[in-house]
Amino acid sequence: MDTKLFSTEENEINEAGKIIRNGGLVAFPTETVYGLGASAFDADAAKKIYAAKGRPSDNPLIVHICDKAQIADIAAEIPNAAQIVIDKFMPGPVTIILKKKSVVPDDVTAGLDTVAIRFPAHETAQRLIAAAGVPIAAPSANLSGKPSPTKAKHVIKDMTGRIDAIIDGGDCNVGVESTIVDFTGERPVILRPGGVTYDDLKAQGIEVEIDKNILQSIAPDEVPKCPGMKYKHYAPNAEVTVVEGEKNAVQKKIKELLNETNGKIAGVLTMYGADYDNAVILSAGNTNKEYAKNLFSALREFDELGVEVVFAEFSEKDGYGLAVKNRLYKAAAQRVIHV
Ligand code: TXA
Ligand code: MG
Repeated sequence: MDTKLFSTEENEINEAGKIIRNGGLVAFPTETVYGLGASAFDADAAKKIYAAKGRPSDNPLIVHICDKAQIADIAAEIPNAAQIVIDKFMPGPVTIILKKKSVVPDDVTAGLDTVAIRFPAHETAQRLIAAAGVPIAAPSANLSGKPSPTKAKHVIKDMTGRIDAIIDGGDCNVGVESTIVDFTGERPVILRPGGVTYDDLKAQGIEVEIDKNILQSIAPDEVPKCPGMKYKHYAPNAEVTVVEGEKNAVQKKIKELLNETNGKIAGVLTMYGADYDNAVILSAGNTNKEYAKNLFSALREFDELGVEVVFAEFSEKDGYGLAVKNRLYKAAAQRVIHV
C-alpha cells in the first residue's frame, strides 16, 4: 500500500478526514503520542487497525472526539466524577472509561461493554476529527510491542506501507500516553498514569485509586481491567535496567555496571547529566516532565544506534514521575535496582 505523507495544511487535513470517513487509516499527532486513526463507527476499519499494528484483537481502542457533545452519543451514562474530568481536564491528556452505547462496534472495544473516550488538546488532532465528521478510534501509531511514536519519523518507520496516510504534525509535547481513568466500577481507578496526574484528580475532589498493576507485571492467571496492561509494551531491542535513587549513588552504580557488560554496546539514559566512559549517552532531561517527553524517542534511538544494554538513571521528582516509572519499568521488564 502506498502511504501518503500529509502536512497540516487545510486541504491535506480535509483529504485525511475523507480517508477516515471512507474506512481508511490515517496516523495523526496528538499532544501525548501519535495515534493510528479510523472511523469509530466502522467495524471493518477497526479490524484494519489491529492488522496494521499487529495488535492482539482483545486490546480495545480509544475513541477520540473533538467536541464534548459527542460523549453523549457514545457513552450510556456519565457519572458525576467523570463529568468533573470532562469539565476540568478535557481537552487534554486523559481518557475516561464509561459504559458504551451500541453505536460503538465491538471491534473497537474488543467486545467490552465499556468505551474509552479522549478529547485530545492537539489542534491537528481536533481538526482531523472535525474533518472526518465522526469520532476516531485510535491506538498509538506504533507496531505492537514498540515504544509509542512521539515524532513523525517514528510513525513513518513503523507504518509506511501499512496505512493510507500519515500527518506530520511535529513532535508530541507530553510524550507518554494519556492517563486512563475507569469510571465504570464502584470508585474511579487510574488504569494508566499520564499527563493528568493522581494529584490533579484529587485536587478536584475525585476519590480516585491507582490500580496496583501500574508498577508490577501482571500475574499469568490474572485478568487485568485494562487489557493493554498484560502486554509487554515499550520494549526496545536493548536490555534495559533502571537504576533508581539520588545522583551520586546512581552514577556510582552505573559505572560499576558498565564494567560488567562483557563487551556489549552500552547506553545510558541520563537525568543527572553524567560523563560515562564507553557508553552512548542520551539525555532524558532534568525533570520527570522532560523525561516523559524524551523517553520513547530515546528508546528508539538506542535501538537505531545498535545499543545492546541500557542503564536508565531515574528518580521520582514530580507529578509525571508515576507515568515515567510505569513505562520505564515495563521497558526494563521490571529490572530495577534501587540504590
Ligand atoms: O494518549 C493516548 O491515549 C494515545 C493517543 C493516540 O490518544 N492512545 C493510546 O492508545 O495510547 P493505546 O491503544 O496504545 O492504549 C489504549 C489503552 C490500552 O491499554 C487499552 O487496553 C485501554 O487503553 N483501553 C481501551 N479501551 C478500554 C476499555 N473500554 N476498558 C479498559 N481499558 C481500555
Ligand atoms: Mg499503545
